[in-house]
Amino acid sequence: MHTIDELKGINGKKILVRVDFNVPLKGEEVRDDNRVVAALPTIRKLLSEGAALVLMSHLGKIKWGKVDDAEIEKQKAKNNMAFVYPVLAKHLEGVTVKFVNATHGEELKNAIAELKAGEVLLVQNTRYEKGESKNSKELSAEWASYVDGFVMDAFGSAHRAHASTYGVPEILKAEGKPVALGYLMEKEVKNLGACVKGDVHPYIAILGGFKVSDKIKVIDSLLGKCDKILIGGAMAYTFIKALGGSVPSCPVEDDQLEYARKCYESGKIVLPVDNIAANGFDNYTKIVTISDNKVIPEGYEGLDIGPKTAEIFANEIAKAKLIFWNGPMGVFEDDNFQAGTKAVCKAITENKEAFSVIGGGDSAAAAKQFGYADKFSHVSTGGGASLEMIENDGHLPGIDVIG
Ligand code: 3PG
Repeated sequence: MHTIDELKGINGKKILVRVDFNVPLKGEEVRDDNRVVAALPTIRKLLSEGAALVLMSHLGKIKWGKVDDAEIEKQKAKNNMAFVYPVLAKHLEGVTVKFVNATHGEELKNAIAELKAGEVLLVQNTRYEKGESKNSKELSAEWASYVDGFVMDAFGSAHRAHASTYGVPEILKAEGKPVALGYLMEKEVKNLGACVKGDVHPYIAILGGFKVSDKIKVIDSLLGKCDKILIGGAMAYTFIKALGGSVPSCPVEDDQLEYARKCYESGKIVLPVDNIAANGFDNYTKIVTISDNKVIPEGYEGLDIGPKTAEIFANEIAKAKLIFWNGPMGVFEDDNFQAGTKAVCKAITENKEAFSVIGGGDSAAAAKQFGYADKFSHVSTGGGASLEMIENDGHLPGIDVIG
């Protein structure tokens, strides 16, 4: 693994740093600057070595395809990296931080050419380029031609083989130019690596979220490593139906029933025994505790695990030495359905013997909201990336390309 501590002679060199500034926005305002803060140690280290930094990241999704130019412009306006620029500049007070509203051509080339040692240039959203997600050779070659080296610090995007995460370092490496992983990547690889290896037992995984189908690969992988998998969130209803339960108004993936049954046969799956349900997801008027999970009456949707389940899960969590958590237990954004997710946060952080990892995304947001985030051993900045890292035994395109 090549890391930035091995980079020598970068004084005065232009280094492209792929960061993950795909931050949540409310209009033009950055709602959570966690990902910007997470990139600062790498940025500061490279600046202290006298490099000139070109920062690239995507922001949101630009859906190309059969849409007209006006629609693309609308999506671009919504996902403008200029919104992130003041946040970065504030964190790097005292450093010259510039923004270039271009992703190719003369304007980008000139902005990089003018950049001096010790300065930072934030580039417009990489997904303004259609070729970014396609890992276009031309685009990668253009970006690579403007710099002398590359540092990958975008863990949240390391599962994407795109031009800015894969194409550019592949070219630079082939040209014998320096490429390395940044400090955030190092930290993520080390901490998630413990969950990939899974050689500490009892190893408990807690999975939630909406769909079983999104988690098949990770469940398969975790069944081979973990002692128990606790399942909450909407995906639990597919398991409950698969085992003969009646949950007519809950979200169920009928095409996953057989898979759920097969997983359950492993003896490692722990399912909710009770639930908090409401007569509808939005605009509900009644909330009930369903004490027998096997029957959730017509018209009621389970929106959180119940108190008995929270206790059972907490008892399992208390025995663990290694914990991986991905996916909330219920609709934690709503005060009425957050008790289950809060109970899981509490149980994990009370177990001081265990190494505990949150695999990014909604569970990381929940832990932050409830004030538990700094009590976990590691909170990953990547949701999809941390799941794929476990699924692929530690391999991600954005890591492997650095070598
Ligand atoms: C994330 O937020 O998970 C990463 O930034 C990746 O974003 P993407 O799913 O749009 O590629």
